[in-house]
Amino acid sequence: MTEQTLVIIKPDGVRHNLIGRILQRFEDRRLVISHMRLDTMTEELARKHYAHLQDRPFFQEILDYMTSGPVVYLVLEGENIIQLVRTMVGVTDGAKAAPGTIRGDFATNKSENIIHASDSPEAARAEIERFFGKVPAIIECVS
Ligand SMILES: Nc1ncnc2c1ncn2[C@@H]1O[C@H](COP(=O)(O)OP(=O)(O)OP(=O)(O)O)[C@@H](O)[C@H]1O
Ligand SMILES: [Mg+2]
Repeated sequence: MTEQTLVIIKPDGVRHNLIGRILQRFEDRRLVISHMRLDTMTEELARKHYAHLQDRPFFQEILDYMTSGPVVYLVLEGENIIQLVRTMVGVTDGAKAAPGTIRGDFATNKSENIIHASDSPEAARAEIERFFGKVPAIIECVS
């Protein structure tokens, strides 16, 4: 099924000059990047994005981290892209993420873990609208 997913290169990814290397991985797999923007996340948007963690003791730490510098927002699209990108990203804790995944290669801990990717079609729809507003319908690309 053709889907769209939202990816965020988090402030530590931008700070450590990983934008190019992360985009390269998506391009190497011929994934379609349909929207991209560099911006700093507001606290209001960070609160919404991580609302599912608001009762956790590290919630304020996540807000401080996610608003600490510019991020890169991306929309990727393609067949089963949500699960594909989650697999490329690796598990939450960088110390446990498999080598070859983005977190497994570039992150070493659970809080500052370089990248976000939507985890379901419902989350992807809400997150794309949150950070891009209404985006055009999926365009079939000939590669
Ligand atoms: N135990 C923890 N301690 C500190 N930070 C955490 C912890 N668990 C999660 N986080 C932070 O909150 C983010 C969101 O957690 P979530 O459970 O949604 O994991 P995820 O889906 O792998 O990550 P993301 O939503 O950022 O793609 C994590 O990516 C990490 O930055
Ligand atoms: Mg998540």
